[in-house]
Amino acid sequence: MSRVRHILILTILLAAPASAQNLDSLLARMTLEEKLGQLNLLSAGGRASPEQMQLVRAGKLGGLFNVMGAENTTPVQRIAVSESRLKIPLLFGLDVIHGYRAIFPIPLGEASSFDPDAAEATARAAGQEAAAFGISWTYAPMVDIARDPRWGRIAEGSGEDPYLGSLMAAARVRGFQQNIFATVKHFAGYGAAEAGREYNETEISERTMRELYLPPFKAAVDAGVASLMSAFNDIAGVPASANAWLTDTVLRREWKFSGFVVSDWTSVVELINHGVAGSQAEAGRRALTAGVDMDMQSSIYVDSLAALVRSNRIPMAVVDSAVMRILRAKTRLGLFRDPYRARTAPPTSELRALARRVSGESIVLLKNERSLLPLDKAGTIAVIGPLADNKEEPLGPWHTQGRAEDVVSVLQGIKSKVQTVLYAQGSGIDDTSKAGFAAAVAAARQAKVAVLVLGERGDMSGEAASRASLGLPGVQQQLLEAVAATGTPVVLVLMNGRPLILEWASDHVPAIVETWFLGIEAGNATADVLFGDVNPSGRLPVTFPRVLGQVPLYYNHRNTGRPPDPNNKFSSKYIDVPVTPRYPFGFGLSYSAFAYSNLKLSAARARVSDTITATVTVTNNGAASGTVTGVSISGTGQFTQGADLGRGNETSPDKAVSQEIGHPGCVVDVALATGDVTDVHRIGEDKLEALVNEHIEGPFLGMFGPSKVHVLKLNMALDELK
Ligand code: BGC
Repeated sequence: MSRVRHILILTILLAAPASAQNLDSLLARMTLEEKLGQLNLLSAGGRASPEQMQLVRAGKLGGLFNVMGAENTTPVQRIAVSESRLKIPLLFGLDVIHGYRAIFPIPLGEASSFDPDAAEATARAAGQEAAAFGISWTYAPMVDIARDPRWGRIAEGSGEDPYLGSLMAAARVRGFQQNIFATVKHFAGYGAAEAGREYNETEISERTMRELYLPPFKAAVDAGVASLMSAFNDIAGVPASANAWLTDTVLRREWKFSGFVVSDWTSVVELINHGVAGSQAEAGRRALTAGVDMDMQSSIYVDSLAALVRSNRIPMAVVDSAVMRILRAKTRLGLFRDPYRARTAPPTSELRALARRVSGESIVLLKNERSLLPLDKAGTIAVIGPLADNKEEPLGPWHTQGRAEDVVSVLQGIKSKVQTVLYAQGSGIDDTSKAGFAAAVAAARQAKVAVLVLGERGDMSGEAASRASLGLPGVQQQLLEAVAATGTPVVLVLMNGRPLILEWASDHVPAIVETWFLGIEAGNATADVLFGDVNPSGRLPVTFPRVLGQVPLYYNHRNTGRPPDPNNKFSSKYIDVPVTPRYPFGFGLSYSAFAYSNLKLSAARARVSDTITATVTVTNNGAASGTVTGVSISGTGQFTQGADLGRGNETSPDKAVSQEIGHPGCVVDVALATGDVTDVHRIGEDKLEALVNEHIEGPFLGMFGPSKVHVLKLNMALDELK
């Protein structure tokens, strides 16, 4: 026992604290191979293989990922800090995306809460739990702005709005980094994959890059994020993993980022497929000299770059800078002092309570005709659908160590509140059998209300899960129609990782509840909302189109010279479908009845450097207390007809006609009891500056409301246009 302690103390001393001078002298003692070794990152299958342990011993590995549990991280760390020549500790990475074992809502779902504090809390808890299993570094948050629901990775981000995306990015970085390092990814423009096809090319102007795709990365950098991950995609022919404009000019020179950049999985060797490198060595040279410090999974830096450095085709200074960034990160994390990082996970009860609360906030009520919801707990309820009694799919596409056995299914959640429940699966998620329809219809007939839980499998979104059709998979649509035909009122509960096309349901089903993939407390949180124990306050962070042909459809597009006009053929619209979405960005109902009035700006004219305060009066005229999740949007140009349609009336999104322009704004989140009135929110000065560039003149619009189609609007003159 005392011998073990003795060895541990010795180990810690050998891996002694690294001050700036120590790091310089450490670098000076490193061979070229050891330097390139620090830039090498490999995945393990749960534990390090004997070959990987040998690499660690030889100083040829800077970090490992997918090694979980102290029983697996400790032995290999011990090799690093006691058997390798320079005793440099390893980083242990993992994709802790929305939880380690305790799985929280997918990020797109959590973004529906419009609540950065919630995102910070779940990231903090996930980081703490992961740290207890030896993890020191997560590959999250994913902050790619996504406007195309075909792209499966839309599930991992915060949707289409760079402002909301920035708030969430910073919050998650703050949360994770209380315990482990965060990696903001994928730098940059990955969400613009053409046609929503995974890993596809992108074509992004510098302006769109700066206004739309980069702000969440900047917010993460400002929040102190330790690392960035370079993306798979190219941008107009220049791959992001060999893009000096992104990783050097913008990131390091403009933003003064001092952390390190890691490639995505084999994105260095993929430079050959992109056609910008003819050999592994050239791919490595391009990536490293562009500013990608660490090579994930290609093994090119460590295997193929030494000769190029020796022949001066890669300056040693480039290698040294990259190595120093990794060493500084290890110092900042405290690894030289404390390589084993023994940590304690938060209590399960705490994780569950947090998951339930945040899941409740993440649910979006899309339709509630004649106040079918909240449901009464008395009477017989039919619970139907392939996702109703399912414990695997609520974990979503990227659930790390999440386990189905930890999940409360929707059926369980409902049963915990209601006496008489009839359950029928009805169908599979994406098979073609209708054998279960009869039982589902029979259950619905005997019930006062049928709750149908439909949607996608968890792995139908996330990486490599692009879909070219956005309806309910398999025969679920037919199941929905068969159950609705019984005449029993239907509540459609959706589980999915992207916007779906819901035309039939929106026209025929009285109540629709979007739950995304909520994680371990999915069932309880869903039941809380269905029965009114939680008043829904979530808002869509992404637009739901009517038909696939409208994609990409998003609220913050630039003006057209010919705004849509039903009376003018030669205006920007379709001849066969409306231009408006089915559910716009920011849309979401509640059981309260909020009215918005009296929008005021603190000045009618302003200079771009001014801070403008916008105030609005929100009144809760409903019987239920609730949380107003307000979205303010500010923009320039003209709003066409209908911008104030549906004011104070949250029930008819499809009647509104608005031109979907504008820029991100602020978010408020205030709890209001019946009869309560509140006001005030603020548009910061940086917002005004961000809005104004050489391309923009004309009236500035401030708007506020529950969604893009239910807004109050106001003109303000901006002086000093750039
Ligand atoms: C994904 C990244 C992820 C990495 C490591 C890649 O395929 O694109 O988001 O962090 O794998 O697992």
